[in-house]
Order: sequence, then structure tokens, then C-alpha cells
Amino acid sequence: MSVSFPILLVDADATLALGRDLGHLVQAGDVLALIGDLGAGKTTLTQGLMQGLGYQEEVTSPTFSIVQEYRGGRLEVFHFDFYRIEEEHELLDLGWDDYLDRDGVIIVEWPALHPDLLPKNTRWLKLSHQDEGRLIEEV
Ligand SMILES: Nc1ncnc2c1ncn2[C@@H]1O[C@H](COP(=O)(O)OP(=O)(O)OP(=O)(O)O)[C@@H](O)[C@H]1O
Ligand SMILES: [Mg+2]
Repeated sequence: MSVSFPILLVDADATLALGRDLGHLVQAGDVLALIGDLGAGKTTLTQGLMQGLGYQEEVTSPTFSIVQEYRGGRLEVFHFDFYRIEEEHELLDLGWDDYLDRDGVIIVEWPALHPDLLPKNTRWLKLSHQDEGRLIEEV
């Protein structure tokens, strides 16, 4: 199975389903940068991805904690939100480089705020609002 973009996601269930597909496909060391306005579906996609990796627990935006760590699925997941990060050193102090070395899956919401931190192998996905649903494309 592979995923080819762009995809029109007609409702939240479609976002979840795509996330689940991605959850089956991701591999250790993958970095996904999720671009999109407020409410574009970044966390919903992440929720689906977590389901695809076999996690049952609820996934929320990590806005207030910067990173949420999940263990117990097929791969560890480190879910970041750069929204409130003002300076790169805040992330570096948190051990950003170590996270990159941990062979988990890294998911970043609001990555464009600190693009220089994202490694070369990052897959950049952009979600945007449509009249109905959302469009997701690789950028
Ligand atoms: N394809 C879709 N069509 C319509 N609604 C959707 C779609 N995908 C997700 N949603 C809904 O959009 C709302 C916001 O989604 P979500 O919280 O995932 O956005 P977000 O990009 O993480 O926002 P934030 O920037 O605030 O973290 C939710 O109610 C979700 O169910
Ligand atoms: Mg979110």
C-alpha cells in the first residue's frame, strides 16, 4: 500500500482513515511535518496515525507540553507542537536531537515556525480548508 497526494478528505473520518493508512506505512526514524491553519486537521490525522500504529489512548494537541510521548504501539511516537516555541533553543534544550536519534516516529504540528530544525528526510504534508472537508498535499 502506498499513499499518493493530493487527497481530498471529505470529513473528519476520512482524515482519520488516511492517518491509519500512514500509521501502517511509517517506519522508524520517519519525521512528518504537518502544516495547516488552526483546525486544519493536524491532530485528527495524528489520531488516525496512532490508531494505525496500534494505540488505543486518546491523542490531543500537545500545545501545552510541547511534546507528547507515546509508547506501546508498533513504534514509539513523539508528537510535537511548535506553536508556542519562540526560540529554537527551547527545543534543543528539550533534547530535540536526541528525539531524532531515537528511532521512533516524529510528528510536528506548526513545523513552519522553526523549519530549520526539521531534518532532510522530513515529509512535509499540508492540510488546508476547503468548502467541504480538507485537502492534504505533499509540499
Ligand atoms: N477532512 C475533514 N473535514 C471536516 N472536518 C475535519 C476534517 N478533518 C478534521 N476535521 C475536524 O476539524 C476540527 C479540527 O481538527 P484538528 O484539531 O485535528 O485540527 P488541528 O489542525 O490540529 O488544529 P490546531 O492547529 O488547533 O491544533 C475537528 O473538529 C476535526 O474533527
Ligand atoms: Mg492540533
